[in-house]
Amino acid sequence: MGISSSGTMAASCVTTILLLGIRAVVALQHEEEFFFGDFPPDFMWGIATGSYQIEGAWNEDGKGPSIWDTFSHEGKNYNNDTGDVACDSYHKWEEDVANLKRLGVKHYRFSISWPRVLPDGTTAQVNQKGIEYYNNLINAVRGAGIKPMVVLYHWDLPQALQDAGGWLNESIVDRFNDYARFCFKTFGDRVPFWVTFIEPWSIIWLGYGNGIFAPGIQSPAEDPYIAGHNMILSHVQAFHTYKNEFYGKFKGKVGITADLQWKFPKTQAPRDQEAAERAAQFKLGWFLNPIYGSGDYPDVMKERVANKSKAQGYTKSRLPPFTADQIRMNKGSGDFVGINHYSSQLISDHPLPLFPPSYESDQDLLISLDPKWKGLVPGDWLKSVPVGIRKLLNWVKSQYNNPLVYITENGVDDPTGELDDQFRVGYIRNYTNEVLKAIRLDSCNVKGYTVWTLMDDFEWSSGYRIKFGLHYVNFSDPSRPRTPKASSKFYASLIRNNGYDSTTTTVVG
Ligand code: NOJ
Repeated sequence: MGISSSGTMAASCVTTILLLGIRAVVALQHEEEFFFGDFPPDFMWGIATGSYQIEGAWNEDGKGPSIWDTFSHEGKNYNNDTGDVACDSYHKWEEDVANLKRLGVKHYRFSISWPRVLPDGTTAQVNQKGIEYYNNLINAVRGAGIKPMVVLYHWDLPQALQDAGGWLNESIVDRFNDYARFCFKTFGDRVPFWVTFIEPWSIIWLGYGNGIFAPGIQSPAEDPYIAGHNMILSHVQAFHTYKNEFYGKFKGKVGITADLQWKFPKTQAPRDQEAAERAAQFKLGWFLNPIYGSGDYPDVMKERVANKSKAQGYTKSRLPPFTADQIRMNKGSGDFVGINHYSSQLISDHPLPLFPPSYESDQDLLISLDPKWKGLVPGDWLKSVPVGIRKLLNWVKSQYNNPLVYITENGVDDPTGELDDQFRVGYIRNYTNEVLKAIRLDSCNVKGYTVWTLMDDFEWSSGYRIKFGLHYVNFSDPSRPRTPKASSKFYASLIRNNGYDSTTTTVVG
């Protein structure tokens, strides 16, 4: 991306027009230029982690097993890696908080491990030691002047609930609600932001569709839609529980985080533009439209899955319908939209065979990457395409009436954990600049940005092979020392300046 300085604050210029599912795309203002300017004074800079990825202590102090303990112990990850010890944050949380403080973040997004507080997933048995852990963490975070943004579900479902069918069993909606209520009651007096789920698409498609994530189910035609349905209803019920029982006292906000690699049409042909729009609806709209849009699934999903199901001999659509009551309850059941965004893809329209039926073939498209896009991990999905985040924020603005947005994850991986991580510095600098443009030039209602992640950690089925941290962690040392990388210093200065100064001009990522 070329650089030139511009302090102009021009009027809003939203240039994505959605017409019959086809995008007429005009260049965004200052698309090719670096934009020097400040973030809003109350902008929430944060950093995120996930319980299974950092805590370790998988069977200590009364914690129950989670699906990721099971999956890892079955040797399903790269190098047979597990989260048994991970970054050992269960014991080293004070050091984590010291690192947060050094960064100067305004919020810390972390997750509660459901089986650490409720070992079999139900409130029948409560693990006091687990509660103590999160109380200590929350209190220390607040003591450091940092707001906790607490995630209820970052993928570590209690194994006992998986044994009862997991997200496929509709009783999970009540179990999740009990768990959410328990957390609101126990920690809610100190938590201003709750996120119910991180990336439902990843949980559902990778866990129940292609099975590369726990619980490792490969059932691409029906299960993802059923699990997704139950997850949306779980979010909605927990949201209303908070509003009805806790909001009056605690005044917190509740949202859900969904993810999207921005979908560029591979060519400007209308069919590719339509396919790109369809891809966004099948991934992001799947979860956001029921909650922040019409209350129901996107039309394109309903129509396509119903038509394909019929042609495949199903007696009803593989996508379960919401009842009229559910649609009413769904609609507006979020105080903010959480967005995770890392990279972009090229989409082309591509009719796929009817059989075998699958969520993927329901979409009739092909995904590819532009060979010009740069990343550090060979063969990886994650390439640096900064403008994608601005396009995505504008899409969310136009789809859901400019909702309040917190970017709850953005970051980049490398294969070594190098301390002088200039690619990551460039990536954060350029992505945040696109966020700044979305705020200042496009009037997107974005109030916060969160880097993934505080330190190198357990990266799910990739184990410890790839690193996203702003701190390096030596995983061969039992004491798991953390060392700040160049990116942590850069991020601290970005936060301190609430924008870019002359020392923040590296452009690599
Ligand atoms: C999203 C997930 O929430 C997080 O757990 C993961 O490590 C990052 N993506 C990077 O893949």
